Amino acid sequence: MSKKRKGKNEQKQMSKPKQTNLKGVNKHEKTKFKHTAKQSKIKNKQNIKNNVLSNSKSKQNIKDNVMSKSKNKNNIKGNAASKANSKQNIKDVKITKKDKLLKRLNVNRLSSMLQEKEKTTDEMKKKKVPEAPLSLRERMMAKLKASRFRYLNEQLYNSESSQSKKYFEEDPDAFYAYHEGYKQQVDRWPMNPLDVIIESIKKMPKEHVIADFGCGEAKLADSVPQTVHSFDLVAVNDKVKACDMANTPLLTGRVNVAVFCLSLMGTNLGDYLLEANRVLAKDGILKIAEVESRFEKIDDFVKLMTSYGFVNTWKDLSNNIFYFMDFKKTKDVLKKDVKKLPALTLRPCLYKKR
Ligand SMILES: C[S@@+](CC[C@H](N)C(=O)[O-])C[C@H]1O[C@@H](n2cnc3c(N)ncnc32)[C@H](O)[C@@H]1O
Repeated sequence: MSKKRKGKNEQKQMSKPKQTNLKGVNKHEKTKFKHTAKQSKIKNKQNIKNNVLSNSKSKQNIKDNVMSKSKNKNNIKGNAASKANSKQNIKDVKITKKDKLLKRLNVNRLSSMLQEKEKTTDEMKKKKVPEAPLSLRERMMAKLKASRFRYLNEQLYNSESSQSKKYFEEDPDAFYAYHEGYKQQVDRWPMNPLDVIIESIKKMPKEHVIADFGCGEAKLADSVPQTVHSFDLVAVNDKVKACDMANTPLLTGRVNVAVFCLSLMGTNLGDYLLEANRVLAKDGILKIAEVESRFEKIDDFVKLMTSYGFVNTWKDLSNNIFYFMDFKKTKDVLKKDVKKLPALTLRPCLYKKR
C-alpha cells in the first residue's frame, strides 16, 4: 500500500468513535463516560487537524525541497556559467594585454634596435679579440718565413725558368713556402686579379679549352665550367701539371684561351709567350693580368707583343695595382725564332720587408 493511502485509512480509523454498550451503567458514570468521549472526539478532531496541517506542511516541504533542488541545479548551472564567464574574462584580459603590448611594439623600431645591437656586438668583437701577443720565437719564425718568401720570389723573377724548375725539384718544400707567402700577400690586396679573369672566362662558351700558365693552386680550374689545363713548376694538387711553362705538353693550336695571371716571372718571358702562341688556335685569346709597377711603359709592351704574334684587343689600366689586357693571336711565331725577336722584359715585382 502506498504511504498516502495508509495515512488516509489511519485518519478514518481515528475519526470513528468507538461503539460502546452503555446498558447497565449508572448515570454518574454515563456522564463521565460521555464527557471523556466528547473530549476524545475533540482530541481526535484536533489530531486530524494537526495531521492535515502536518500533511500540508510536508507537502509544502516537498515542494520546497523540489524548489531548492531546482534552485541548486540552477545554482550549479549558474556556477558553471560564472566559471566559464570568469575564464572568458581572464582570456579577454589576456588578449587586451597582448593587444596593448603589440600596439606598444613598434616593429620598425625593434628591427632598428636589433640592427644597432648587431652592429655594436660586431664592433665589440672586432675590438674584443686582440690577438695574443706572439712569443719571441713565433715572431722570429714569422720573420724567417717572410724573408724566405721574398727570397724565393726574387729568385723566380731573376732566374731563367729552367733554373727555377731545377731549384724547386730539389727543394719542393721551398715551393710550398713560396705559396704560403704569396697567399698572405694576396690577402693584403684589395682584390685578387685572378677573380677578374675567372669572371670573364665564365662568360665564354663552355666548349672553350683554357690553358693556365703558372696556375699556383689551380683556382681557375676550380672556378669555371670549361676544361682548364693547369701548369706550374710544382704540382700542389691533382689538377696541376708540373712543368716549366716554356714547354708544356699541350698539342699545337688546340687552346682557345691562354692565361698568365701574375705569372710572367723569369728572365725568359719570350719563351712563355711563344709557347702560348704555339698552343693557341688562330684568333685564340691571350689574357694577361700583371702588377702595374712591372711595366716601364705599357704602350711599349703592347707594341712589342705584335712581334710575338699578338694584337691587343682590350685593356683595363684603371686599377691602381693591376693591369688587365687581352690579346688576339694573329699569326704563328716559332720558338726557334725567339732570339731574332726584340727582347721582352718586365721589372721584377719585389715585395717590401714588413
Ligand atoms: C704569383 S703566382 C700566381 C699564381 C696564380 N696564377 C694565381 O693567380 O693565383 C705565379 C706562379 O707562376 C708560377 N711560375 C713562374 N714561372 C713558371 C714557369 N716557368 N713554369 C711554370 N710555372 C711558373 C710560379 O711557380 C707561381 O706559382
